[in-house]
Amino acid sequence: MSPPEIQLTGLHKAFGDNEVLRGIDLEVARGEVVCVIGPSGSGKSTLLRCVNLLEQPTRGIVVVRGVELTDPDVDIDAARRRIGMVFQQFNLFPHLTVTENLTLPQRRVLRRDKRAAERVAHENLIRVGLQDKAHARPASLSGGQQQRVAIARALAMDPEVMLFDEPTSALDPELVGDVLAVMRMLADDGMTMMVVTHEMTFASEVADRVVFMDGGVVVEEGTPAQVIGAPGHARTRHFLSRLLDPARADVEEDTGNPAG
Ligand SMILES: Nc1ncnc2c1ncn2[C@@H]1O[C@H](COP(=O)(O)OP(=O)(O)OP(=O)(O)O)[C@@H](O)[C@H]1O
Ligand SMILES: [Mg+2]
Repeated sequence: MSPPEIQLTGLHKAFGDNEVLRGIDLEVARGEVVCVIGPSGSGKSTLLRCVNLLEQPTRGIVVVRGVELTDPDVDIDAARRRIGMVFQQFNLFPHLTVTENLTLPQRRVLRRDKRAAERVAHENLIRVGLQDKAHARPASLSGGQQQRVAIARALAMDPEVMLFDEPTSALDPELVGDVLAVMRMLADDGMTMMVVTHEMTFASEVADRVVFMDGGVVVEEGTPAQVIGAPGHARTRHFLSRLLDPARADVEEDTGNPAG
């Protein structure tokens, strides 16, 4: 069996007195799609940001493809290069065209020449279905198109794993589907992905594993059928019922039989 692509061991993160991650152990296998769900403030973004050391964990070990990122002697820039990240906000350069947004980091970070970078940009715009927008400026695109450009920009760096932090949360509902379709295609292509999302249909259909976090710990994890379909913990059930019916936000569950 090949070693995990991402291996988190005993991960802790505190901001001052606020202990945000309180001992996370998680492995993501090659080609696996792991969706991370949980209430606001549970530490989902912090967890993703610790995977590429945008946040320095207080304690614990992060290994990506056999390289320990928490090793103080690691070449962190080289290690980070292999990890693509997509945020809720697309962070495109407004004064550059779509193609220029894709070629700039390739040229700066990977030292690709202009032609090579443009070829890779073109290939990845085709992948996300936006080849006809190559010369457009971000402001002329819809939010969903801008997010697909941001995904193409990450892919153009040839990442080994991709991290997504609520990539569709800032989008109008009618634009969400196109972005999720691109992510689904990536999953089908075998990309290793960690996805923080509130899209339970996507998680149910695309994730190999769902991780429910609350209060800085993994409360439960398993297949989508287990965690979303038949959650074993009251906290998971409470979270899912609120997602499905926000009007019940203040209703405390739970009287029922724990399923597991
Ligand atoms: N840079 C920071 N400095 C101080 N506190 C932070 C920082 N980043 C996050 N926190 C705190 O860490 C906790 C967890 O935040 P985090 O953003 O990881 O949660 P989340 O699960 O992603 O929530 P959401 O669903 O709202 O995005 C919160 O209490 C937040 O205030
Ligand atoms: Mg977050």
